[in-house]
Amino acid sequence: EQVVLGVDVGGTNVKAAIVSVSGEVMTAVSYPTDAEDGPERFVQRLYEQFIKLLQKSGCQLTDVLSVGVGLAGFLDVEHGYIEEAVNLHWRNVAIVQLLSESLHLPIYLDNDANIAALGEAWQGAGQNAKSVLCVTLGTGVGGGIVLDGQIYRGVSTMAGEIGHITVKPGGPLCNCGRHGCLETLASATALVNMGVAHGLHSPSGGTANAEEIFALAKAGHRDAQQVIQELVNWLGVGLGIAANLLNPDKIVIAGGLVNAGDALMDPLRASFAANALQRVYRSCELLPATLGSRAGMLGAARLAIQGAALENSVL
Ligand code: BGC
Ligand code: NA
Ligand code: ZN
Repeated sequence: EQVVLGVDVGGTNVKAAIVSVSGEVMTAVSYPTDAEDGPERFVQRLYEQFIKLLQKSGCQLTDVLSVGVGLAGFLDVEHGYIEEAVNLHWRNVAIVQLLSESLHLPIYLDNDANIAALGEAWQGAGQNAKSVLCVTLGTGVGGGIVLDGQIYRGVSTMAGEIGHITVKPGGPLCNCGRHGCLETLASATALVNMGVAHGLHSPSGGTANAEEIFALAKAGHRDAQQVIQELVNWLGVGLGIAANLLNPDKIVIAGGLVNAGDALMDPLRASFAANALQRVYRSCELLPATLGSRAGMLGAARLAIQGAALENSVL
């Protein structure tokens, strides 16, 4: 059976899988990104992991059609370039060239949130939708738009960058250099920062992480509840803007914060309803992602399959 390699490059971990063209994960691996070692070393490690994955899956190199790669940050997909990957601290890297010199396979690159959106649209909460907006809440706030099963990239791979919509002019400084971006108010990082500002502590005494803030809120801690409500209020503003513009049939919320379940989704639905036109939110399902940390890897695989299918029909 023909397979592809799907790779999701996060700030902390790389997740890679051999996936059959019918969508079945044959083998998968997760290992540290070690971005500080630079892109060349990253590519070398990926090659080594790829060979191991192949052996485990029982597939041959000749079974592999192509490789899909998702990366956080601003990319020039057309030229296979990383313009700026803030969390990896890589800039101006010809990543597709590096990867194809090492792997000798067609490489398809895209933004991490775009591929998470594609993964969720393929096998997760966005299945059977014509238009899916996926919003990832993690270190940053990412966004991806999938229309009729295809990622919508815009003219320079920036479509869906919901995290950098200004929702609070003059607000906190963002990694992009501007102020008051949604990401500075609604990411997991923002939640932790707001917790610090409210004097919240983890049970062990240090800074409370996102999970601990949700646990505190559940236990009735007022400040923790307020901090979550604040995040939800800002996120609703961002979703309202995006939904009025796009009128999608599904919005999928992904990323670590989704583990909070209804404690996030219930107030978020109310905040979304307060910020989007009635005809927009009524016809839009707001859902938690169902693929967890596998969304990116699966989306990357899907991208590789779509790319290979296109190539073969052209030939
Ligand atoms: C970046 C996006 C990325 C998101 C999640 C944002 O800061 O601008 O490209 O998708 O973080 O990693
Ligand atoms: Na995106
Ligand atoms: Zn920004």
